[in-house]
Formats: sequence, structure tokens, C-alpha cells
Amino acid sequence: MQRNQYGMPLMGLGTYGRRGTQGIDAILAALEIGYRHLDTAQSYDTERECGEALRQSGLPRDEIFVTTKIDMPNFGGGKLVPSLRRSLDALAMDYVDLTLIHWPSPHEQVPLATYLEQLAEAQALGLTRTIGVSNFTIDLLQRSRTILGDLPIANNQVECHPYLQNRKLVDFCDGAGIPVTAYQPIAHGALKGDPVLEPLAATKGCTVEQLAIAFALARGLAAIPASSNRERLATNFAAEQVVLTPDDMAIIASVDRGARRIDPASAPAWD
Ligand SMILES: NC(=O)c1ccc[n+]([C@@H]2O[C@H](COP(=O)([O-])OP(=O)(O)OC[C@H]3O[C@@H](n4cnc5c(N)ncnc54)[C@H](OP(=O)(O)O)[C@@H]3O)[C@@H](O)[C@H]2O)c1
Repeated sequence: MQRNQYGMPLMGLGTYGRRGTQGIDAILAALEIGYRHLDTAQSYDTERECGEALRQSGLPRDEIFVTTKIDMPNFGGGKLVPSLRRSLDALAMDYVDLTLIHWPSPHEQVPLATYLEQLAEAQALGLTRTIGVSNFTIDLLQRSRTILGDLPIANNQVECHPYLQNRKLVDFCDGAGIPVTAYQPIAHGALKGDPVLEPLAATKGCTVEQLAIAFALARGLAAIPASSNRERLATNFAAEQVVLTPDDMAIIASVDRGARRIDPASAPAWD
């Protein structure tokens, strides 16, 4: 299992939409298959499901890397730390491994320093082992580094898949020592039938989804595909075994079309 410098397994499980008993069953199946990295968020309302699946698995807490994300209503002064305590209650955990700012506050409604300083406080209190951000641009990352000083930004989680390779941002993060997690790494199933990727997958004896996950991992990114289906959970997980040659990488690189799937009106001006 490949891990980054903060101990995060590069292969992870997205949990958006995995709620209730079905959600718990999906997360538990993933843990049985071998996933050791769970990605949740306050706004997904899947923290309880992650905690319950871990409890049912019988795995020790320290074998699992858990990421949660702070929702915008919890950015204001004095709100972030209590909200993370509520997340820990839902997870039935004493700490999370990584806490991210889910989205930057639109138009700086809440100043960057206000919520980043509270995130740093959460780390100092031991509620989270590391801290990071999500959907942050290069400009926001640079300003965050100035605010946080020596405290490392342990992740920037962004949309990234063969149709949106985000090269400028990933290159910046590589240079700055900020690990990147690719969300929607299989473009929510949209790669199926691709005229370039399908033939390549056929020659490699894998699926286009495995190709996309292997591509993210080969770029040094973490990948967090979601599924409620045991077979797809297993094939996605097995993508870590797919070996891509430089020629394969170049072919996958060629399908980039800057196609962003998640782009709300409140999003920052992307790089
Ligand atoms: N930070 C952010 O702002 C942000 C935004 C979006 C997502 N995320 C994170 O990223 C995770 C992944 O994103 P996502 O869940 O939106 O999309 P995704 O992982 O790209 O795609 C998931 C969808 O694809 C299907 N699927 C999974 N494996 C498949 C396979 N091998 N072949 C065909 N279809 C497959 C799943 O259906 P089945 O269940 O039927 O398999 C599910 O509907 C989220 O769960 C969340 O943790 C973060």
C-alpha cells in the first residue's frame, strides 16, 4: 500500500452519498477488501457511518486514515473547533488523521485567516493529526502558507481525473510539498466508452476506471473513488496493481480536456 509523507494511503474510499445502513455496509465491505483510508465530510453526513463501519470491522483505529472536512457554516470565529468535536462524536473517534477546509469561503465572506487559525488550533488541541484544504487554488495556497507559517498543509483535495488533469495546480503542489488528493478520480463513471481509454484498458486487461485510478496513483496523487458495489469496490482497489508505462501515461495524458464536473457558483477562479 503506497502512502504519502503524512501516512495517508494513496488508495482511499470516497463516502459521499453512502448514508444509512447501505452506506455502512459499503464502507464495511471496503474495509474488508483492504481500504485503509476513508474520506468523509461534515456536509456528507457520513461521519457516523464511517465510525460504525470501523467498529463493525473490528479493525484498530490506528490502522485507518480518516479525513473529514469543515463545512462553510462552521468557519466563523469560535465555530470550527466545536464543529470538529461534533464530527469526532459522530465518528466515535478521539482524533481524525486529516481535517480539510472543504471549500474556500466565497468572496472572503469569512477571512481566510479566521478559519485557518482555528484549524491550526484544532491541530494543537490534538483533534486532528494534520490539516489541509480542498478546492484551493494556487493563490489561496500561497496565502494559506503565509498565514500558517511553519505548519504544513498536508493536503489539497481537488477534482482530478483523465478529463481534468489539473496540471498547473498539481505541479505547484509538487513544488511546494503539498500532497494532492484526486476527488472524482473516475469522473463519476463518465470514462466508460472513451475511444482512447477503452482500447488502452483492453490491452492492459483492466477497466477504464482502474486505468484512471492507476493514473492518479502514478502521478503521486491519492485517489478516493466511491462505490456501494462490492465488486466495483474490489476492482477499484485492485487498480493499485495496474502498472502504467511512460507510453500508457502519455496516452492517458492526451485525453485531458479541462472538463470540470464540480463547479458551483461560489467556487474560486480556478487555475
Ligand atoms: N472535496 C470536495 O469538494 C469533493 C467533491 C466531490 C467528491 N469528493 C470526494 O470524492 C469522492 C468520490 O467522488 P464521487 O463519489 O462524487 O464520484 P466518483 O468516485 O468519481 O464516482 C462514483 C460513482 O461511480 C460509480 N462507480 C464506482 N466505481 C465504478 C466502476 N468501477 N465502474 C463504474 N462505475 C463506478 C459509483 O456507483 P456504484 O455505487 O453503483 O458503484 C458512483 O455512482 C466522494 O465520495 C467524496 O468523498 C470531494
